[in-house]
Amino acid sequence: MAMAASAKLNTLSSSQWIAHNSFSPRRGSSSRRVSLPIRASSYQHELVQTAKSIASPGRGILAIDESNATCGKRLASIGLDNTEVNRQAYRQLLLTTPGLGEYISGAILFEETLYQSTTDGKQFVDCLCDQNIVPGIKVDKGLVPLPGSNNESWCQGLDGLASRSAEYYKQGARFAKWRTVVSIPCGPSALAVKEAAWGLARYAAISQDNGLVPIVEPEILLDGDHPIERTLEVAEKVWSEVFFYLAENNVLFEGILLKPSMVTPGAEHKEKASPETIAKYTLTMLRRRVPPAVPGIMFLSGGQSEVEATLNLNAMNQSPNPWHVSFSYARALQNTVLKTWQGHPENVEAAQKSLLVRAKANSLAQLGRYSAEGESEEAKKGMFVKGYTY
Ligand code: 13P
Repeated sequence: MAMAASAKLNTLSSSQWIAHNSFSPRRGSSSRRVSLPIRASSYQHELVQTAKSIASPGRGILAIDESNATCGKRLASIGLDNTEVNRQAYRQLLLTTPGLGEYISGAILFEETLYQSTTDGKQFVDCLCDQNIVPGIKVDKGLVPLPGSNNESWCQGLDGLASRSAEYYKQGARFAKWRTVVSIPCGPSALAVKEAAWGLARYAAISQDNGLVPIVEPEILLDGDHPIERTLEVAEKVWSEVFFYLAENNVLFEGILLKPSMVTPGAEHKEKASPETIAKYTLTMLRRRVPPAVPGIMFLSGGQSEVEATLNLNAMNQSPNPWHVSFSYARALQNTVLKTWQGHPENVEAAQKSLLVRAKANSLAQLGRYSAEGESEEAKKGMFVKGYTY
């Protein structure tokens, strides 16, 4: 973790300066004030516009940025091999769903998908733009063990991130995602929380410098038997550190999006919480930690069933919030779609319809107008997997 002052100055000196702020080096040591520049991305205006358009009423994000390994697990669940052709066929089904843009404002892609086309030769990025859906890209390189911690992990991907981001922008991406995790049963240790927060902040600054709106995602895993109060305590700690380092890295808050986990009891806790309780705790955490300058809160589903994730989002939108409170679901948008498709071309239309059903349900939940009446049994099945990797 490169948190030394020299690293910070290195970053500052390579950028463009628009303003100056000042601070006293040591309280009482001198009356002279030292000036330091604040950096700003030349994409500032565009970043704010992109974030606003993703956080538009009644819309949210379709997350289909599973790594090839994770996509392989999804395909295996319906008996398909993990080949590029099968991954492409599945992503084509999702991204060419007619009418998707009414409910979906952004789609997070894996690198392979960003450069892929439909079987007719149309780039996936163009399919998205035609539906007014902003293309996004997962830029982290996954989790590895964090030495010196309590069996926790850290997220790789900062090396070369600036040049990769510039290439992704050229290919049409306008936002990025970096997912790191915090585990409650493993502590979390102060080291793991600091590392997660610092990594997210460096990534966010680099993304903005290259025109990509960063989705900031410190996922607090559902694993554990702890009560909801413990999740709240950990979430408050994590988000306070994340915002501390975002500010230290001069990240423009109006040009980011958050992807938090909802505040729930651990998956193995003896009691389940109602959507109203989850909404109350989650909004308490957000109000205490997230400045209103942030345009959008796009929740992950984290192993909740499709219906649970939608009900919880709906409960959070029963009264006005300072931010756009919406979804960026992977599992909770794709589960029924996969089961309906089964890899058969004749099922594509039905699978696309089931994607629209989920997208519309979450759109209504974003507006606080969803009812679970008539939902299928499949959509009520939980998807929690212990120690889940993405
Ligand atoms: P889930 O909604 O499956 O938790 O997805 C998490 C994620 O980070 C997808 O981009």
